[in-house]
Amino acid sequence: MKLFSANIEDLKTLYISNLKKALDLEQKICKSLPDMIENSTDQQLAAGLRTHLEQSQGHASKVASLLQQHTGSDSTETCKVMDGLATEASDTLKDVKDPAVRDIAIIAGAQQVEHHEIAVYGTLKNWARVLGLSSDVSTLESIERDEIKADQMLTQIAGTVNYQAEKEPVLA
Ligand SMILES: [Fe+2]
Ligand SMILES: [Fe+2]
Repeated sequence: MKLFSANIEDLKTLYISNLKKALDLEQKICKSLPDMIENSTDQQLAAGLRTHLEQSQGHASKVASLLQQHTGSDSTETCKVMDGLATEASDTLKDVKDPAVRDIAIIAGAQQVEHHEIAVYGTLKNWARVLGLSSDVSTLESIERDEIKADQMLTQIAGTVNYQAEKEPVLA
């Protein structure tokens, strides 16, 4: 819970505040993806997550440079949603022992992050449009496209991994 109000009085201030949260989100994703890659047994999943890690590093630097342009700094604000999603994902990884089921859990955790990112960048893009920041719009749109593609890639991999997990149940 917040102790002090940030006094957000206009859309530009709200936009900057949410860009700062998006940067925190991307930096945290870049920290948690290596663990997810290491725990993935499905090669396609590991490769897909590796590609998205590189994209996420690119997202972080794109958002940082938008912040630099607007504020002269790339300081962040805490993305509490990502803290929750990362805790959920790492707790599940500790609980699930079967490799195919663990792959499914990794996909589920990753898709929750992607869905949040799609919502975040969709909103930021619309606010940038309202604020007349056309170069921000195209940057945010390109990041949003990457997130949508990552989500689709995970859905496609889930189709094969879910099947394997169903076929090879672990006896308790
Ligand atoms: Fe991202
Ligand atoms: Fe992403």
